[in-house]
Amino acid sequence: MFDKILLAVDGSDHALHAARKAAELARNMKPQEFRIVAAFDTIPMYLGEPNMQLAIDSRKTEAQEILNAAIKEVGSIPCEIHTELIEGNPAEAIINVATTRQSEIIVMGSRGLGMLAGLLLGSTSQKVVAHAPCPVLIVR
Ligand SMILES: Nc1ncnc2c1ncn2[C@@H]1O[C@H](COP(=O)(O)OP(=O)(O)OP(=O)(O)O)[C@@H](O)[C@H]1O
Ligand SMILES: [Mg+2]
Repeated sequence: MFDKILLAVDGSDHALHAARKAAELARNMKPQEFRIVAAFDTIPMYLGEPNMQLAIDSRKTEAQEILNAAIKEVGSIPCEIHTELIEGNPAEAIINVATTRQSEIIVMGSRGLGMLAGLLLGSTSQKVVAHAPCPVLIVR
């Protein structure tokens, strides 16, 4: 059960909390594969060159740092950790990775970096829960 775990992270404390739970799950389940995905927003074309490339590079670096922090939080687990850094809408990115990689569970936070106080479930989590091809563990 849950041989392929997918963790989604956005640099928030919620996502790091989800990372710790996903790692616990991995230590118990001894999966074949543990994958972490971080998506960054598409850069608008109107920026033009070289600004567009600079903006893409800076978002990529930021997303890579988010992945590195998540790897550190996961710590030692009994399988290899793969990462995916994707440009585009976060919910679509998570669902696409889960579909192409045939993930058996998606682990994510209930909230992320969004500022809307009082929201119980962020829009990324809502979309993933609604459209995921596999079970979703929303960590509170
Ligand atoms: N860009 C992203 N890449 C990967 N995972 C993400 C990304 N954004 C959010 N997530 C995942 O979704 C979880 C919930 O975040 P979500 O974006 O739904 O909440 P929010 O930021 O509080 O609300 P909103 O984005 O709707 O303002 C995060 O804890 C993280 O696991
Ligand atoms: Mg968000």
